[in-house]
Amino acid sequence: MTKILVTGGAGFIGGNFVQYMLKKYSEYEIYNLDMLTYAGDLTKHQEIEQYKNYSFINMDIADRTSIEALFEEEEFDYVVHFAAESHVDRSIDDPAIFIRTNVLGTQVLLDAAKQINVKKFVHVSTDEVYGELEFDSDTFFDENSPIQPNSPYSASKASSDLLVRAYNETYGLPVNITRCSNNYGPYHFPEKLIPLTISRVLNDQEVPVYGNGNNIRDWLHVTDHCSAIDLIMHEAKSGEVFNIGGHNEKSNLEVVRTIIRSLGKSEDLIKFVTDRKGHDKRYAIDPTKLEQLGWKPVYDFESGIAHTVQWFLDNKDWWENILSGEYQSYFKKQYTLK
Ligand code: NAD
Ligand code: DAU
Repeated sequence: MTKILVTGGAGFIGGNFVQYMLKKYSEYEIYNLDMLTYAGDLTKHQEIEQYKNYSFINMDIADRTSIEALFEEEEFDYVVHFAAESHVDRSIDDPAIFIRTNVLGTQVLLDAAKQINVKKFVHVSTDEVYGELEFDSDTFFDENSPIQPNSPYSASKASSDLLVRAYNETYGLPVNITRCSNNYGPYHFPEKLIPLTISRVLNDQEVPVYGNGNNIRDWLHVTDHCSAIDLIMHEAKSGEVFNIGGHNEKSNLEVVRTIIRSLGKSEDLIKFVTDRKGHDKRYAIDPTKLEQLGWKPVYDFESGIAHTVQWFLDNKDWWENILSGEYQSYFKKQYTLK
C-alpha cells in the first residue's frame, strides 16, 4: 500500500485532510503525525479511528532522532506537511516557538524525507509569505510575487518555503509548495476570526474587531483546500509552487456582519479593539495556475459560511470544551471584553 504521512493531522486543516483522504482512498495507508499542542485534538477523529488504514503517531517534528528513525522504519511514499504554529497573534507575543516548529521542524522532516527518497514532499504554506497588498489596488498574489513576510509567523513560513525550495534544487528532493488563503470550516480553532465570531455570537458575547475592520482576507472553505492539495500531490510536476484561493475577498467587518446576520443577532455585539501590530492590509490570490491543473472550488463564501455556521451549531460540545480549557487564559491575555 502507498504510505502517506500527514503531519499536523490533529489540527484544523490537517484534520480535515486526513478525513478527506480516508474517505476517498481506501488503497492508501494514512499516518497522522502530531504532537498535540494546544491546537491539536483527536476527538475530531473519533469517527475515523475505525479505518484500518489509519494510524496516529504522537511525535514532535523537530525531534530529529525520533523522526529519522520513524522514516527509516516506515519508508513513507508521500509527506504532506501541515504541522505548524499557525496563529499570527501568538507569533507576535512569542516568536521563538514559531521558529522551532515551522523552520527547524520542517528542516528535520526534509532531511528525513531525503534520506528515504520519498516520491513527493508537499509543503503546505500560506499566502502570508507574500506580505500585503494595498486596499485600493486590483492586484493579486501570483506564484512569482516577491516573498515579503511581515509577521514572525509569516516569516517562519517563508523561511520553511525557502528550505523546501533549496532541498529540491540542491538534493533533487521532489517537492511542491502550496500557498493558500484564509481557510474556514469544521474544527476551526476558536482563536481565529471566523470560529471566534461564531462561538462568541452564539454565547451573546462581544466580538473583537481589530482597528476599523477594513482589512481584507480571501476566504476558502477547508474542503476546497483539501481537494487542491490532493490534486497537487498527485498531478503537479515536482518543484512547482501553487497558490490556492477562490476569489472570496471580504473585509473583516463584512465577515463578522455576515455571521451575526446568519445567527439572527445584533451588530451591537461588534467591539472595535486595538489593531494587531503590523496588521497586513489585504490578501488576494490569483489561482489561475491551479485552475489550469484542473481544480475548481465547490463552495462560494455564502454557502461555505452557511455550512460552517451550521457545523458549529451542531458541534457545540467540541468548541465549548476548548473554550473551557487553557484557552481562557490566552483569551484574557489577548482581549479585554465582556
Ligand atoms: P492548526 O494550528 O489548527 O494545527 C496545527 C497542528 O500542528 C496541530 O494539530 C498541532 O498539534 C500540530 N503541531 C504543532 N507543532 C508541532 C510539532 N512540533 N510537531 C508535531 N505537530 C505539531 O493549524 P491549521 O490552521 O490547520 O494550519 C495547518 C497548516 O496550514 C499550517 O502549516 C499553516 O501555516 C497552513 N495554512 C493555514 C491556513 C489557515 O487559514 N488556517 C491557510 C493557509 C495555510
Ligand atoms: O492567509 C492565510 C493565513 O490565515 C494562515 O496562514 C494563518 O495560519 C491563519 O491563522 C490566517 O491568518 P490571519 O491572521 O489572516 O487569520 P485570523 O483569523 O487570525 O485573522 C483574520 C483577520 O481578522 C485578520 O485581519 C485579523 C482580524 N481579526 C482577528 C482576530 C483573531 C480581528 O479583527 N479580530 C480578532 O479577534
